[in-house]
Amino acid sequence: MKLLIIGSGGREHALGKKLFEDPQVTAVFCAKGNAGMTKDGITVVDIAEDAHEELIAFAKKEAIDWTFVGPEIPLLNGIVDDFQAAGLKIFGPNKAAAMIEGSKEFAKELMSERNIPTAAYQTFSDFDAAKAYVIEQGAPIVIKADGLAAGKGVVVAETIEVAIDALHEMLEEQKFGTSSARVVIEEFLAGEEFSLLAFVDGEKVYPMVIAQDHKRAFDFDQGPNTGGMGAYTPVPQISEAIVEQSVQEVLYPTVQGMIQRGTPYHGILYAGLIATENGPKVIEFNARFGDPETQVVLPRLESSLAQVITKLIAHETPEIQWNNLASVGVVVAAKGYPEAYQKGMVLPEINHPDVSVIYAGVKSEQDKLVANGGRVFLVEAHAETIEAAQQKVYQALDKMDTTQLFYRSDIGSKALTK
Ligand code: AMP
Ligand code: GLY
Repeated sequence: MKLLIIGSGGREHALGKKLFEDPQVTAVFCAKGNAGMTKDGITVVDIAEDAHEELIAFAKKEAIDWTFVGPEIPLLNGIVDDFQAAGLKIFGPNKAAAMIEGSKEFAKELMSERNIPTAAYQTFSDFDAAKAYVIEQGAPIVIKADGLAAGKGVVVAETIEVAIDALHEMLEEQKFGTSSARVVIEEFLAGEEFSLLAFVDGEKVYPMVIAQDHKRAFDFDQGPNTGGMGAYTPVPQISEAIVEQSVQEVLYPTVQGMIQRGTPYHGILYAGLIATENGPKVIEFNARFGDPETQVVLPRLESSLAQVITKLIAHETPEIQWNNLASVGVVVAAKGYPEAYQKGMVLPEINHPDVSVIYAGVKSEQDKLVANGGRVFLVEAHAETIEAAQQKVYQALDKMDTTQLFYRSDIGSKALTK
């Protein structure tokens, strides 16, 4: 089997590595990929994510069996629709179904139609009306740009002043361009967060093991929101009963709602949830695997990922088994991220037998890997317990020269203190 992955980050590296575990997979290509992926045998293809025609021509020329889409932007640009129109197999939601991530208002309407538990909200495009609503509701309150904003379009405002500043930036200064021409103002939900992902084929839902991301830049959840600084699984402070309730009250009604709207969902569905006093509630949907959740969830998949996706594309039942291991993944980022950061630093050598290194913002320069993005790489380890996995990761990181780089030292710790 020859496979193509669209994307270039850590999520796509982890996917490629996992797909290669199946002996039937003879080649994994990744467009546009990153230079670190080649260490795990992935072939990097220099075609941009938005060059659909070129990607289609490549898939035909190489006789690719199927293509897997990592990030949301190509999904929202209709890459699945274009590949299918060209007669090629591809896994991911089409453009219409990817709107579950592309528009918060679309997701909110779907949830309200299906009584899916989520934070109370209202949508605004007028600054004065939005401001009046915030004053009426009080703080804390959450302001979200309606469209895509690379994980940065959410402000959890502790005070009314911060909320009004966010509204001003989004609606009046168009901080995120047309993505913030409309905003969703949401009730603040208190509770532990978790990510529940599932393989979805129309009405069929195959949940994965849950994970927890760490969105803030620094230890103890301080500092600005980032794309994610690390993740771990399992999340023992979230009970099996809450996970099951989320599958029944969130995932199933969502896929049924998508069918009824005429936009059936095929692909990975990601529900970001908060376990509140009144049960799990949705804070966001994504139309894809999470990054960095993928890097810790996939090491727990015992079955062949290539087999799972092949079966789902054929609308057959895949075999999906998970192990009981714990996995911890710590992101190493360039100092300054998520604001301005340096590039070009030579990466430390990492040859530790106990860990996997999953590359993201890197490129090759004179045969050396150098930093070329905010999140540079992730170090993952798995073991019988979260504590043991955490120890392996941090022991490997301690040995590394990480000048000009930084990482959080508390990934997974929430599971140990509760
Ligand atoms: P999002 O980009 O929607 O995942 O939001 C970024 C982060 O903001 C989430 O990971 C949560 O920590 C937080 N957040 C989003 N919505 C809410 C909410 N309604 N209540 C509390 N926290 C929220
Ligand atoms: N880790 C959060 C996301 O992928 O959106």
